[in-house]
Amino acid sequence: MRKKDFQIFAGTSNPSLATRISKALNLDLSAVDLNRFPDGEIDVKIQVDVRGSDVFIVQSTCPPVNENLMELLIMIDALRRASAERITAVIPYFGYARQDRKAEGRVPISAKLVANLITRAGADRVLTMDLHAAQIQGFFDIPVDHLYSAPVLIDYFKKKEMEPLCVLCCDVGGAKMARAYAKRLGGAGLAIIDKRRTGPSETEVAEVIGNVEGMNVIIVDDMISTGTSIAEAARVAADRGARSVRMTATHAVLCGKAMEKIEKSGVQEVVVTDTIPITGKERAWLKQLTVAPLLAEAIHRIHKSESVSSLFM
Ligand code: R5P
Repeated sequence: MRKKDFQIFAGTSNPSLATRISKALNLDLSAVDLNRFPDGEIDVKIQVDVRGSDVFIVQSTCPPVNENLMELLIMIDALRRASAERITAVIPYFGYARQDRKAEGRVPISAKLVANLITRAGADRVLTMDLHAAQIQGFFDIPVDHLYSAPVLIDYFKKKEMEPLCVLCCDVGGAKMARAYAKRLGGAGLAIIDKRRTGPSETEVAEVIGNVEGMNVIIVDDMISTGTSIAEAARVAADRGARSVRMTATHAVLCGKAMEKIEKSGVQEVVVTDTIPITGKERAWLKQLTVAPLLAEAIHRIHKSESVSSLFM
């Protein structure tokens, strides 16, 4: 493959992360005009020559999910028709990921549909982070590099004095991730909430497996969406006698009354990453760590056709 050069484009979903990535790579973002036609359709014009280039598009499909997804698809189409040699969709937060199976009859598997759309639009590869379920990688028939934000978040907590420490996960599905956190936080305890989902934004805690009494608890999850899971987990930890409660998640989706629930939950600290931008009042409550150096390193290695597996930790 002729790789004339290497260019990074940013959609409108997360310009601050895209800028941090480009700075880490010592490369300016390539120019693209992203506008709306009067009827709301997305208008894309790539402003630079991309013929023969290895291009990367940074776009989280966070709220407004459908707008950001469509913008990504149209950018891929524009770059493909402009003869880019290879297109990598860098999707730090992959929306629709929770719709990854038929949990009941007559429902779609929207995560698979989105994977099909991205592929059919013309992406050659995907670089993403902390998919809600790692097996979503298999929904794509193109290579997917799946990174974890854990090294960044764990480094942060390691610097704190938190003994005796217990990692609490919000549901059984997160147990593997929580176990990895516990191990890398120096053999912390592990507790799991047996959560039952009773609706799109309602859950009911059935049982806690493990002991949080007298412990400094870190609740870990892949995302904070409505904030219900974290608020419930924090309440349960406090009820069971936790000494302190903190929370960490990769993706701060924060919809509906999430911030209100976080504020009322009594957690001492909420640590998230910048896969989704946070603004305004949320900034005062959330500690945001950047994953830009990790994504930049992966982009650099993909471009150079070097192994990225040492980054999958
Ligand atoms: C659930 O399976 C996920 O890992 C998260 O716990 C969940 O999506 C968070 O959503 P919410 O903030 O709406 O409870």
